[in-house]
Amino acid sequence: MELTLETRPFTQIESGALVTYAFEGDKPVDAVLTDLDRTLGGELTRLAESKELTGKWLEMTLIHYPQGMKAERLLIVGAGKRDKFTSAELRKLAAAAARYLKSRSVKRLVFLGRADDLSAASAEAISEGLLLGEYEADKYKSEKKNGTSLESSALAGWSGASQADGERGLRRGRIIAEAQNFARELGNEPSNYLTPRVLAHRAEQMGRDFNLAVDVFDEKKLQEMKMGALLSVAQGSAEPPRLIVVTYTSEKAAPGSPVLGLVGKAITFDTGGISIKPANSMEEMKFDMCGGAATLGVMHAIAHLKPGIKVVAIVPSTENMPGGKAQKPGDVQIAMSGKSIEVINTDAEGRLVLSDGLHYARQLGCTHLVDVATLTGAIVVALANVNTGVFGSDTKFIEQVLAASRIAGEKMWPMPLDDDYREMIKSAIADIQNVGSGKGGGAITAAAFLREFTGDTPWVHLDIAGTAYLTEGKPWGAKGATGVGVRTLVELAMTLKS
Ligand code: BES
Ligand code: ZN
Ligand code: ZN
Repeated sequence: MELTLETRPFTQIESGALVTYAFEGDKPVDAVLTDLDRTLGGELTRLAESKELTGKWLEMTLIHYPQGMKAERLLIVGAGKRDKFTSAELRKLAAAAARYLKSRSVKRLVFLGRADDLSAASAEAISEGLLLGEYEADKYKSEKKNGTSLESSALAGWSGASQADGERGLRRGRIIAEAQNFARELGNEPSNYLTPRVLAHRAEQMGRDFNLAVDVFDEKKLQEMKMGALLSVAQGSAEPPRLIVVTYTSEKAAPGSPVLGLVGKAITFDTGGISIKPANSMEEMKFDMCGGAATLGVMHAIAHLKPGIKVVAIVPSTENMPGGKAQKPGDVQIAMSGKSIEVINTDAEGRLVLSDGLHYARQLGCTHLVDVATLTGAIVVALANVNTGVFGSDTKFIEQVLAASRIAGEKMWPMPLDDDYREMIKSAIADIQNVGSGKGGGAITAAAFLREFTGDTPWVHLDIAGTAYLTEGKPWGAKGATGVGVRTLVELAMTLKS
């Protein structure tokens, strides 16, 4: 979808629909909407009086052939309570408007910013929302969703003194939304199409398109590198594993500046292996590579945004299958770090592939590590499908990641990781075991396992099992992969200082 800035007055702009928003309260048609109301001969005031326009969150008030304008429709979206309204709400609101209008065959949408909020941040949130809302997972459908899509959109209102802010916000919003949609596209791919080899090809293609260095290690190389934990998961599958490494190097990076390592779990399908999963919802396990997809999405964005630090994405990728050569419960594996692991449950495979990914990231000289993974069902028990779980070893770095998530508008919540949890991953015959003994705390013992491979490098673990995909569509987004993590980690890469 094309996205541009329109500097003409809103009455002059031709479109299928002009969109703006109103806040809930005694006076949804406030001073900012007076201009619009006057053009419409008081139509908005009348709608507010009849309670057809209240400003309630995501209420849609649609007017056909609005008086005094070249737009075919006017859509007023309810923004909810003013004191609860942030960029995150504005992004969702714009996305919901895009989805509402495209389902009504609108081809061109113009989003009119409110005169009291013409910042770069708002232009960014609206641009992101429009592009995220437009996205459909309809690649394999003969007839595209609703037979419609938006062909073009524009932002209006940012003219004169605010035009530069509008342009800046639009550019950044587009870059980040396209990166997030890239991650969603990978996430939504069925596992018969997106194997580890195909994922590696996609990363290589991105590297060529955006001038990023991409290294792909095959099973032979992984053996030489002694990535025993990653290989142990791969051995039950006919599809070979890959380790994908994407590097962005900044010309501006000063000596001693941080090197950010992003390690993403990319199990292209998780059957559970010999500890096989029940059939119910097993199809969702094609999403078990969404962490890896998010880290590739971050690289997609920063290739354009060019932060002043080096950033490396490390993506261990394999299927987890119960083939004849599959590892079995009770097997002992030696990770790349040299630690021995007793595999109690072959379905706890994410932590195995990440352990080698994290160790390798340290070898590459990363000074800060963030891993992103659909790691545990237990995090969904704790936080439902609302927050991403945040774990880590370094309070300052955890706070930096949480601050980035707040700015990015991705909900994340800190989880505990005291030394006591270490006791729960002790093995009788190896250094550690891959599941916690005793009851409960499954998301925490998984994090405790990962910590064993991070040494003294500041590290944060994001468990996105509950937030990586939607099992039902929302007004602001299609069912399927969400691209969660991309916005937070782009923000982190752009702001990280040691
Ligand atoms: N990929 C799953 C975690 C998952 C669950 C992701 C639900 C998305 C939605 C992971 O590999 C897994 O199976 N974890 C096990 C660990 C257990 C065996 C210790 C789990 O959470 O049940
Ligand atoms: Zn699993
Ligand atoms: Zn998994």
